[in-house]
This record gives sequence, structure tokens and C-alpha cells, in this order.
Amino acid sequence: MAQNRTFKFTNPQRVEKILSQYPDKRSATLPLLHLAQEQEGYLTSAAIEAVAELVEIHPGEMMDTVSFYTMFYTKPMGKNHVQVCQTLSCSLNGADSLVDHISEKYKIAHGDVSQDGKISLVKVECLGSCDTAPVIRINDSNYESMTVEKFDKIVESI
Ligand code: FES
Repeated sequence: MAQNRTFKFTNPQRVEKILSQYPDKRSATLPLLHLAQEQEGYLTSAAIEAVAELVEIHPGEMMDTVSFYTMFYTKPMGKNHVQVCQTLSCSLNGADSLVDHISEKYKIAHGDVSQDGKISLVKVECLGSCDTAPVIRINDSNYESMTVEKFDKIVESI
């Protein structure tokens, strides 16, 4: 996990709004983790502790939650964060070849960031567009019916 330092939400109104939407504070865990990650790009141990305190659970339990979900990161990701769906439709339609290509080209494995900081790679569960498999997500955009050639063109253009 990233080194510890202080963390404070820069938008306390959003925190209050999220908390107000749930009768049980614990239910606000995922939205608050997303908000913390949005603020810093990843979840520091201080951010995880801050969210744990807000929803009144033990930081260790919060860490279990963070490590369970592939969409949370405890270290900085690349400028272009690539998520490759590994669920059945995508897996059967070439997702493994995409992962191999990205891994070889940028010398990274799942969870790594390229040495120049431009690309990071994670394998994720279904991205919700199974009929256009294989699907990848780069930062906030999904790309469907992906091939190695299409991937290289997209990365060149961003
Ligand atoms: S299986 Fe890949 S998007 Fe659903």
C-alpha cells in the first residue's frame, strides 16, 4: 500500500450528500471510496482510514473491501489506465491476446504501470457490453470489439 500521509476530502458537501443517502453509514462505503480515489487518483492508506472513520468500521475491514474490488487502486496508475475485461464473452473473444500484447509491448503485468508512467494494465470483470466482446476501458471510455491493431491505434491517438 502507498505510504501513509494525511487525507482530507476537498469536497465535504459531496461527502455529506453521500452519507445522507444511506440510512446505514456502511452502505456509503463504495461511493466514498470512489470519491477519495477520484480526488487523488488512487487510495492512500490515509484515505482508506478516513473513509473507515466516516462509516465507522475498522480500517482493516476497509482494506479488505478495497482489495476485493478491482476498481480501487492503492498505488498511482498510468496516465492511460487500461482495463481489460476477463469475463467469459471477452475471454472467449480474444481478451487474453490483448493482455499478452499489452504486457509484452509495455513490459507490464496485471496491476503494473509502464516505466514511463503512460500505461497501466488491470484485468477486470464484465464491463457491461458482452455482445461487443472483447471490451476494454481506457480511463473513462469503453472500447468494444477490440483487437490488438485497434488498441495500438487508440493508444497512439490519446
Ligand atoms: S464479458 Fe466482457 S463486457 Fe461482459
